[in-house]
Amino acid sequence: MIYSTWLLISLILITSISANPSYSKASSDVMECLTTKNVTHADQSSANWAALSNVYNLRLVYQPLVIMIPETSDQVSDSITCAAAAGLKVQPKGGGHSYASFSSGGKNGSAIVDMQNFSSIDVNQTTLVARVGSGQRLGNVALALYDQGKRALPHGTCPGVGIAGHALHGGFGYASRKWGLTLDHIVALDVILANGTQIHATEKSYQDIFFAMRGAGDSFGIVTHFYLQTEPAPSSVLYYTADLRPAMESIDLITSAFEGLQTYALTSSDVTSNITIGLYTDSDGSLSISGWCMDCDLQVFKNVVFPAMLAGFPSSSSTVTEFGWIDALTSMSSPNPLSEPLGSGYTNHDTFYAKSLVVKNHEPLTTGAIRSFWSYIIANQGKGPFYTIIDLYGGPTSQINIPSSASSAYSDRDALWVFQNYGYTYNSLPPYDSSITPLVDGLNYAITSAQTGGTISAYLNYVDSDLSPAMAAQLYYGPSTYDRLLSIKAEVDPMMVFWNPQSIGNSPAL
Ligand SMILES: Cc1cc2nc3c(=O)[nH]c(=O)nc-3n(C[C@H](O)[C@H](O)[C@H](O)COP(=O)(O)OP(=O)(O)OC[C@H]3O[C@@H](n4cnc5c(N)ncnc54)[C@H](O)[C@@H]3O)c2cc1C
Ligand SMILES: *[C@@H]1O[C@H](CO)[C@@H](O)[C@H](O)[C@H]1NC(C)=O
Ligand SMILES: *[C@@H]1O[C@H](CO)[C@@H](O)[C@H](O)[C@H]1NC(C)=O
Ligand SMILES: *[C@@H]1O[C@H](CO)[C@@H](O)[C@H](O)[C@H]1NC(C)=O
Ligand SMILES: *[C@@H]1O[C@H](CO)[C@@H](O)[C@H](O)[C@H]1NC(C)=O
Ligand SMILES: *[C@@H]1O[C@H](CO)[C@@H](O)[C@H](O)[C@H]1NC(C)=O
Ligand SMILES: *[C@@H]1O[C@H](CO)[C@@H](O)[C@H](O)[C@H]1NC(C)=O
Repeated sequence: MIYSTWLLISLILITSISANPSYSKASSDVMECLTTKNVTHADQSSANWAALSNVYNLRLVYQPLVIMIPETSDQVSDSITCAAAAGLKVQPKGGGHSYASFSSGGKNGSAIVDMQNFSSIDVNQTTLVARVGSGQRLGNVALALYDQGKRALPHGTCPGVGIAGHALHGGFGYASRKWGLTLDHIVALDVILANGTQIHATEKSYQDIFFAMRGAGDSFGIVTHFYLQTEPAPSSVLYYTADLRPAMESIDLITSAFEGLQTYALTSSDVTSNITIGLYTDSDGSLSISGWCMDCDLQVFKNVVFPAMLAGFPSSSSTVTEFGWIDALTSMSSPNPLSEPLGSGYTNHDTFYAKSLVVKNHEPLTTGAIRSFWSYIIANQGKGPFYTIIDLYGGPTSQINIPSSASSAYSDRDALWVFQNYGYTYNSLPPYDSSITPLVDGLNYAITSAQTGGTISAYLNYVDSDLSPAMAAQLYYGPSTYDRLLSIKAEVDPMMVFWNPQSIGNSPAL
């Protein structure tokens, strides 16, 4: 079924490309350049094309013109300059999990630099900085860091997500209230710029590029290696979860329970940075809460902290389990193992549309917005399917909000809750039912229409394919960050070689 879809897509593409003379000129130019420079590459006639051009989100399948698989930094330079000289747009591919398939170009006919050969992971035992190749995936990184001196990083739970896209655009996980985002651990980057120049960017050298890469990496260069300051892995992680479905029985109940949880997160001295809180709800009526308490006392958490967290919810079944670091990560990634194949060896998929909302600490959700959201969830049971994950990024002790908003292009440093609203297909495969899109839009609208006077932004790593360039600039960066990025872009990539539909430069100054 998937095979025949690919065959059909390839046939359509061959027809459309041969009908477009500028494509075939660009195609022969780039192929000739890459062959001269000895850079491994593939096009639609290659036997491994279907595997190489694979996307995670099957709702948004794009056909690149060429995929380059460099093995050295010089070959990354050559990949970029060959593609740019042929007038092609370039996007690197790390783990390939971009919600909008930007690592396949976000349009047909782009040049993709597949970084799968950049896979080393080395912890310097003096500085405890890990040098990580940009083709790696989160699960492999976690295992290698732990093997090299029980080191760790904060990052998401899905082991197949690439370190590159994740770290460059945020990177939230259950350790983030304690340790910040993955992005906050970047101390240096080896980057190849649009003109092919190789640089080592830090706080002190190539400051502007270092600022821009952390939050807008897709628009400024290709990272070959990350230098990430690691943390000591905690010896104990408490994983807690409770089924809160009984609270969904009435809108009054769930509104007051959620509002109580928000007040608790903002005011209780129990909510140290060691604690993470996340809620999950969906179109089948599920409601659960789960999270971690790192290096916490099991009895105190179970008997004092957890009951206080759930005080507003009707009694429900719950568990608290104590793990070591790697077992905690393994249980979160289940049924997938932490160890994942690189490049096109990885074949997980979904077919989905997602949006996000970032609610601010200084403007918590109003009672009206909370009621509006849960009313919408209850009113749309049995439709979709969709789910919402609501993660606590804020509260007084959260490390996510410590860096200043001017310290990197990731400027969202007043986050309280991050909502991910996600519509998908039951079997994860196409066809996507387009009636899911307005349902997901409605989840966002339920909050934005009722949260009067609030500033709500969006989370870069849940990139929303349906935003216009101007909306993306506004929701992901805001005027001061976007306008600074625009001037850096004009300096280092004036021809807009690094391009996707929402890249810096597609919207004028805000
Ligand atoms: C199943 C799943 C679970 C997820 N869980 C979480 C989670 O728990 N927490 C969270 O914060 N996010 C999560 N995400 C979102 C995830 O962080 C983003 O999708 C992330 O950007 C994916 O990175 P990638 O390298 O896999 O993606 P890619 O698609 O390869 O890259 C994403 C973007 O980064 C660019 N890029 C890739 N490599 C480079 C490079 N070397 N240099 C410069 N730019 C580059 C690409 O061009 C693209 O624009 C999840 C996503 C999925 C699909
Ligand atoms: C891009 O290519 C795909 C696959 O060949 C095709 O289905 C789609 O229509 C193309 N999109 C555009 C905008 O040309
Ligand atoms: C081209 O690359 C291959 C492997 O990537 C290598 O074996 C070969 O020596 C290279 N040839 C030249 C001329 O650089
Ligand atoms: C690069 O990746 C390809 C595909 O995974 C693999 O066959 C090749 O051996 C890799 N090259 C290096 C130098 O690791
Ligand atoms: C570790 O980092 C220090 C300080 O930057 C450096 O001097 C040393 O060479 C590094 N060690 C290795 C093995 O790279
Ligand atoms: C949080 O973790 C630290 C260790 O990193 C530990 O010393 C502290 O006691 C923990 N706090 C709570 C409230 O458990
Ligand atoms: C490439 O671009 C960078 C950033 O703008 C610049 O510093 C460098 O001089 C340029 N290199 C060349 C060879 O033009």
